[in-house]
Amino acid sequence: MRIAMIGAGYVGLVSGACFAQFGHDVVCVDKEADKIARLRRGEIPIYEPGLEKLVADNVRSGRLEFGSNLGDAVGNADAVFIAVGTPTRRGDGHADLSYVYAAAAEIAEAIRGYTVVVTKSTVPVGTGREVARIIREAQPSGEFDVAANPEFLREGAAIEDFMKPDRVVIGVESQRARDVMAAIYRPLNLIQTPMVFTNIETAEVTKYAGNAFLATKITFINEIADLCEKVGADVHDVARGIGLDGRIGRKFLHPGPGFGGSCFPKDTLALAYTAREANAPQTIVEQVIEVNNSRKKRMAQKVVEFSGGSVKGLKIAVLGLTFKPDTDDMRDAPSLDIVPALQAAGATIVAFDPAGMAEAARLLPGIGFAKTAYEAASGADVLVVITEWHEFRGLDPRRIKEAMRQPRIVDLRNIFDPEEMRGLGFAYEGIGRPRPRT
Ligand code: UDX
Repeated sequence: MRIAMIGAGYVGLVSGACFAQFGHDVVCVDKEADKIARLRRGEIPIYEPGLEKLVADNVRSGRLEFGSNLGDAVGNADAVFIAVGTPTRRGDGHADLSYVYAAAAEIAEAIRGYTVVVTKSTVPVGTGREVARIIREAQPSGEFDVAANPEFLREGAAIEDFMKPDRVVIGVESQRARDVMAAIYRPLNLIQTPMVFTNIETAEVTKYAGNAFLATKITFINEIADLCEKVGADVHDVARGIGLDGRIGRKFLHPGPGFGGSCFPKDTLALAYTAREANAPQTIVEQVIEVNNSRKKRMAQKVVEFSGGSVKGLKIAVLGLTFKPDTDDMRDAPSLDIVPALQAAGATIVAFDPAGMAEAARLLPGIGFAKTAYEAASGADVLVVITEWHEFRGLDPRRIKEAMRQPRIVDLRNIFDPEEMRGLGFAYEGIGRPRPRT
């Protein structure tokens, strides 16, 4: 199959490289000439484990190309994927679809022969239908179908998620389009990946429902963690105790400082907005958004209370700034709420993050950066773990203790064992874990 991928951002680049790996001929186009020039030189603008090699291999084999001429790419394609950004519109929380519709209009001009136009970006229900209308208006006799094929990639595990997904959801409404989509995903069929074929609206809702459910699950365990803290229960055991019930499942029951990232915050907002417009308010999701936002703000207060009611004049070491490990993405990261609140309360912050410091320097003015976790801990009065990078789990607590001015840890991801840390002489506080009985 010949595929045009419109947008060489996170989703476009990962999907394009993976489709090429499936054996298809893929051209990724992007309006940002600079991005295309960098990609042509083999530079990957995002941090995603394994992506650089995947791109390089497929460019070398001639299956993956980068360009800025949308017309040529679309004109030769069997399927065109729209993978442009859908940021949150300022003011109302709705997804901004201007890039999607602009792409549809350009695609309309370029289509030659039967083409399936697929929305890969996360788009509110109704967008696929609108894309079809835009193309039909520009090309009344154009031969095309529209499909909705949401992605479920997690940053940091995107390639694995694409190559071995739990399922593929495809909204199509003609046999011809279904055949093209089935051919594109044939390699996954061979490994018996469930293919869920639906109508277009259903595929669009499925994406939002999936993300909203996961965001709800996280928020649920976060509130249970708060209860555990108050009553002397351990949220990890509660999560295991409920998660072993197959109807609940163990994943996404890890408590923390609140969810962030490029998807959950944006998609829950967009779902709430669309649902209100459709007169079917999603009150649970609205509550999740609110609880999560206030949780992120409350985490700084937790550090202040742990420090005896004030952090004025204290040096706080922060480990991890990105919204989760294995990414350099800082979008809606809890650190963006926690760090400024601690600064406002009078603390000096020195942070270490394995990949996020360049971006953090832009977003978090006034913080110092260390080259290692130990360097950040050096002379600190409190150490706060905000992101659970794997390498932090392997830190030597004795070395951390020696480096710190006062051995105190607030572990917002529960990466350390409370008893072990207390046994080593740390004042230690996790999330939803019993405090020592006094
Ligand atoms: C998510 C979805 O998982 C993915 O399917 C979708 O396509 C895009 O959004 P991503 O944002 O990359 O992916 O990361 P994910 O691993 O889902 O984590 C999202 C946020 O939830 C992070 O801030 C993470 O720290 C938090 N989280 C996740 C928890 O706090 N606890 C958990 O148990 C799981």
